[in-house]
Amino acid sequence: MWGLLLIFFAAIGFAYWHAYSTRPHTPVQPLPFSHATHTEADKVGMDCRACHTGAQHAAAAGFPSAGSCLDCHHHILATDARLAPLHAAANTDYPAYTGEPVKWVRQAPLPATINFHHGQHSAAGISCEQCHPNPDSSTPHTMRNCLDCHRREAVPTNCDRCHK
Ligand code: HEC
Ligand code: HEC
Ligand code: HEC
Ligand code: HEC
Ligand code: HEC
Repeated sequence: MWGLLLIFFAAIGFAYWHAYSTRPHTPVQPLPFSHATHTEADKVGMDCRACHTGAQHAAAAGFPSAGSCLDCHHHILATDARLAPLHAAANTDYPAYTGEPVKWVRQAPLPATINFHHGQHSAAGISCEQCHPNPDSSTPHTMRNCLDCHRREAVPTNCDRCHK
C-alpha cells in the first residue's frame, strides 16, 4: 500500500519536473544531424532560412526535406551509414527506399493552446539566434521569455493574444 503511494507521488513529481523543467531537451533523432557542422562560418556556413524556409513568412518554421539534404549528401559522405534514413526517404535508387519522410523529433514544442507566428517576429527584425541560441540543444520556450521581450518592445500582453 505505502509502496504504491510512493510510486504514485514519484510519478507525479516526475511529471511536474518534466513539464516545468527548463533544461535543454535533446531527443534521440533518426540520424545525428548537427547544426554546428552546417551553420558555423568555418564549416558549411549555411543560413538558417535555407533549411527552415517557413520561418521568414509562415507561422511554422518547418523542417527541410530529405531530398534537400541529399543535394549535398549525394556527393558528400555519400555511402556513410549515418545518412541511410535520408536515402530511404528520398533516393529512389537506394535498395531500402521507402519514400517515408525522416521523422524528426521536436526539441521544444509549445503547448497547442499557444499562438505563435514566426513571420510576425521575423518581420519585426528579431533574429533566429535571439530565440534559438543553441538549436542542437533547445531549452523550452517559457512564458517569461515571451513577456520579457513583449514588455520591452511595448507589444500588448493581454492573455488572449498568446492563449487560444
Ligand atoms: C550545403 C551542403 C550540405 C547540406 C544541404 C547538408 N549537409 Fe550535411 N554535411 C555537409 C558537410 C560538408 C558535412 C561534413 C562532411 C565531413 O565531415 O567530411 C556534413 C556532415 C553531415 C553529417 C555527419 C555528421 C557531422 O556533423 O559531421 C550528417 C549526419 C549530416 N551532414 C546530415 C545532414 C542532413 C540531415 C541534412 C539536411 C537536413 C544535411 N546534412 C544537409 C554538407 C551539407
Ligand atoms: C542543413 C539544414 C539546416 C540548417 C542550415 C539549420 N537547420 Fe535547424 N534543423 C534542421 C533539422 C534537420 C532539424 C531537426 C533535427 C534537430 O532537431 O536537430 C532542425 C531543428 C531545429 C530546431 C529545433 C526545433 C524544435 O523544437 O524541434 C531549431 C530551433 C532550429 N533547427 C533552428 C535553426 C537555426 C536558428 C538555424 C541557423 C543558425 C538552423 N536551424 C539551421 C536543419 C537545419
Ligand atoms: C521570437 C522568438 C522566435 C524567433 C525570432 C524565431 N523562432 Fe523559431 N520558434 C520559436 C518558438 C516559440 C517555437 C515553438 C513553436 C511551436 O512549437 O509552436 C519555434 C519553433 C521553431 C522550429 C521548430 C519547427 C516549427 O516549424 O515550429 C524551428 C525549426 C525554428 N523555430 C527555426 C527558426 C528559425 C530558422 C528562425 C529565424 C529565421 C526562428 N526560428 C526565429 C521562437 C522563435
Ligand atoms: C525578442 C522579442 C520577442 C520574443 C522573445 C517574443 N516575441 Fe512575440 N512579438 C515580438 C514583437 C516585436 C511583436 C510585434 C510584431 C508586430 O508589430 O507585428 C510580437 C508579436 C507577437 C504576437 C502578435 C501580437 C498581436 O497582438 O498582434 C504574438 C501572438 C506573439 N508575439 C507571441 C509570442 C510568444 C507566444 C512568444 C514566446 C514563445 C513570443 N511572442 C516571444 C517580440 C517578441
Ligand atoms: C506573449 C505571450 C503570452 C502572454 C501575453 C501570456 N502568456 Fe501565458 N503562456 C505563454 C506561453 C508560451 C506558455 C507556455 C509555457 C510553457 O510551456 O512552459 C504560457 C503558459 C501559461 C500558463 C501555464 C499553463 C499552460 O497553459 O501551459 C498559465 C497559467 C498562463 N500562461 C497564464 C497566463 C495569463 C493569466 C496571462 C495574462 C495575464 C498570460 N498567460 C499571458 C505565453 C503567454
